[in-house]
Amino acid sequence: MAILVTGGAGYIGSHTCVELLNQGFDIVVIDNFSNSKPEALERVKQLSKRRFKSYSMNILDSCGLDRIFQEHEIEAVIHFAGLKSVGESAKMPLQYYHNNLNGTLHLCRMMEKHNVRKLVFSSSATVYGHSEICPIKEHFPLTATNPYGRTKLMTEEVLRDLYQADSRWSIALLRYFNPVGAHKSGRIGEDPNGIPNNLMPYITQVAIGRQEKLTIFGDSYNTKDGTGVRDYIHVVDLARGHIKALEKIRNSTGVDAYNLGTGKGYSVLEMVAAFEQASGRNIPFSIADNRPGDVAVCYASPAKAKEILDWEAQIDIQEMCEDAWRWQLQNPNGYENEDNLVTLHARSANVI
Ligand code: NAD
Ligand code: UFG
Repeated sequence: MAILVTGGAGYIGSHTCVELLNQGFDIVVIDNFSNSKPEALERVKQLSKRRFKSYSMNILDSCGLDRIFQEHEIEAVIHFAGLKSVGESAKMPLQYYHNNLNGTLHLCRMMEKHNVRKLVFSSSATVYGHSEICPIKEHFPLTATNPYGRTKLMTEEVLRDLYQADSRWSIALLRYFNPVGAHKSGRIGEDPNGIPNNLMPYITQVAIGRQEKLTIFGDSYNTKDGTGVRDYIHVVDLARGHIKALEKIRNSTGVDAYNLGTGKGYSVLEMVAAFEQASGRNIPFSIADNRPGDVAVCYASPAKAKEILDWEAQIDIQEMCEDAWRWQLQNPNGYENEDNLVTLHARSANVI
């Protein structure tokens, strides 16, 4: 029996594949590489010293998906495949609804056809919208503030309906807070296309010289130092949360949501300081206006995941920064090898 991992070549998927393989699970991976590289899967194989089948395939490809379920004995699915940029989703909502929502519908239909009813779904803290109260608990009101968030919220609702209609389903909705860091080896990590939207990859690209300086979006929030506060969680802790969720859904039925966060909030300036300490590099920054749609503070209550999944984040902020930096330093251009991709900024900053 194998676990089907959709989007397994992506940032969180690749780290979860390593953990699954290390724990002895057999896996099958589907990815269309719209936001990842096949090289990530090669490295997963090297790190785990295990082989597995991977398919360059869109989850919207019904025939292809059907064939995979026919050819492999799939026990459960971990579903990462999706588009994830908030800004992009506002510009191309149809692509987001098609890929994220239709993609999941296709997948679930195929699962049903092949009698596979165990699913771990990548949801997001974005489903809490602009929650005024922290720590955020799973029963808090849900809302969406952009099309990306709406695809997550709608998918959660679809999956709840699925269980209502057929109580043989077993579904874990994992609401991630802010994944950062990389595998200790520095061989796999986050490799965003273009200019990073998120804080940590932006900081690491400043440190390596691919970006000139960090722009901090607002310093007058009602927080300890005026900058935004988030719950950063090491991607390997997050990956291990998937194994715990898998163990849970293997042995029960139902649908339930779990926050995967540390329960601690760090400000942008605290993250910059922690990264500078971990890397020994200076991170120049300037302050700009608040980014539209940002909340001041967002951090999880991870109590439910601890109680029910027996999962708790272990890795602290310093290690998150060290691991993110090791990955960036060893792979200045992500999974691309061309050294000349590192920009002139790096040379002028004397970091290479
Ligand atoms: P990622 O972009 O690195 O990984 C997603 C993977 O899915 C990519 O490899 C991409 O090529 C693949 N993919 C996308 N659409 C596909 C399709 N139709 N068919 C096949 N493959 C497809 O993103 P990630 O950070 O690893 O996120 C994984 C999941 O977690 C996503 O669903 C994302 O929305 C969710 N999530 C991410 C974050 C975050 O900050 N990284 C936070 C909350 C939730
Ligand atoms: N920030 C900056 N400068 C940057 C990037 C970010 O100051 O260049 C600040 C933001 O204003 C925010 C903090 O750093 O205060 C974190 O921002 P991120 O973009 O890294 O993360 P968000 O919390 O805004 O959003 C992320 C994902 C969403 C997801 C959410 C909750 O991008 O998709 O976490 O999981 F919904």
